[in-house]
Amino acid sequence: MSAEDDSALPAAATSDGLTAFGASLRAARLRRGLTLRELARRTHYSHSYMSKVENGIKHPSVELAQRCDKVLELDGELAESLTVRALTPAAVDAWPRPAQLPRGPVQFVGRTRELAELTAALLPDDRQAGVVPVVAVDGPPGVGKTALVVRWAHQNSHLFPDGVLFADLGGYGGDLQPPDAVLKVFLHELGIGGLPSGTGQPASLFRSFLHGRRLLIVLDNAADAQQVRALLPGAPGCAVVVTSRQRLSGLAVRDGAQRITLPPLGQADAVALLAEMIGRARVGSEPEAAAAIAGCCAGLPLALRLAGERLTNLPAKSLHAFAAELAAEEHALDMLTVLGDPRSAVRTVFSWSYLALAPADARVFQQLGLHPSAEFSTTVATAVTGLPPVEAERALERLAAAHLIEPVGPQRYRLHNPLRLYARERARA
Ligand SMILES: Nc1ncnc2c1ncn2[C@@H]1O[C@H](COP(=O)(O)OP(=O)(O)OP(=O)(O)O)[C@@H](O)[C@H]1O
Ligand SMILES: [Mg+2]
Repeated sequence: MSAEDDSALPAAATSDGLTAFGASLRAARLRRGLTLRELARRTHYSHSYMSKVENGIKHPSVELAQRCDKVLELDGELAESLTVRALTPAAVDAWPRPAQLPRGPVQFVGRTRELAELTAALLPDDRQAGVVPVVAVDGPPGVGKTALVVRWAHQNSHLFPDGVLFADLGGYGGDLQPPDAVLKVFLHELGIGGLPSGTGQPASLFRSFLHGRRLLIVLDNAADAQQVRALLPGAPGCAVVVTSRQRLSGLAVRDGAQRITLPPLGQADAVALLAEMIGRARVGSEPEAAAAIAGCCAGLPLALRLAGERLTNLPAKSLHAFAAELAAEEHALDMLTVLGDPRSAVRTVFSWSYLALAPADARVFQQLGLHPSAEFSTTVATAVTGLPPVEAERALERLAAAHLIEPVGPQRYRLHNPLRLYARERARA
């Protein structure tokens, strides 16, 4: 039997399957920087046959897939994609279309620029062959990373005809999800959870399945780059958006992810969020006090929501009095705790990031909280902590990467008001 005999056809032979296989093959080949002729030479197939396979005109045999896997160092992905297709329903209509997105906030304010940035990054005009767009959104606790990403995903889910997968990776404050556990849920959602054991490792099975499909994958609350890496698709057509409190520099450097750091809401949007919650009339009658409350919450949507919630329950309270109480710093964190929901309390939300710090960094964070000014230079921080300058600088960098402090200029940082109160509280505890 010649290498080009395609009599041993796998059941992938629907026209969709052929096109998808060809597209995956081309993408992988381009990633390796090989011409079609070179690939044909190395796999011992003719150029014209290879070209027909890439263009979805000819059926690939398992052997062809295996040889391409070898030359392109794909770890069996192409061959496995044929198996997965053979074991799953061929008709596109028969695929379960996962729609795992949680509901986003009903009242959503601002973020026009960030939503546009997500669109530009995840739906590029010039879809580069072989590139899976990956965007990592990072930012401090409660700044609205999840809300932003979920919002974007709802607005654009129709552009991903094969569905949307969503997972909370539990990086901060949840149950940390190992990649294999997430993959198991994903495979189940995709209707291939019950494949016979030995069909393949979950990661390669997942990647094989994604060949030629268009899914959006939302990975919320990642602990680090490594947790995300195992969940990235290899073939084009899908897009991935990740959120994390950590700056996922490793994902940017090694996996070509684009990073977006989400800042707190600007003053106008912060007041608008308050108005959405407690009514425009109430905010309009005390605009200065409303602005002061927004300021105390440092533009953090989480803190603003808690303040709004509290005010809704105190309809007779003047915003002025509430702002004055908030400004009396001792009680601020208590006031932003919503009774009966410990998970939504600012203090709890912050503690998830704080408890992930190394003890030495936690100490630096506390010391910065006790410092009288919210903004400080590295020199001041060095003096405050009593550490050698290099060590102090490293600690500041790590705190900034965890978004517990915010860089505001060369060698200058700021501790947001709610986080500063929290740091003090930890220092006193
Ligand atoms: N743009 C927004 N408009 C209205 N509400 C928002 C907005 N962004 C966030 N929120 C609300 O603020 C709260 C915190 O937002 P979210 O959970 O998205 O923060 P996060 O950055 O993902 O926090 P964490 O680091 O804890 O995961 C939520 O109640 C969310 O609904
Ligand atoms: Mg979140």
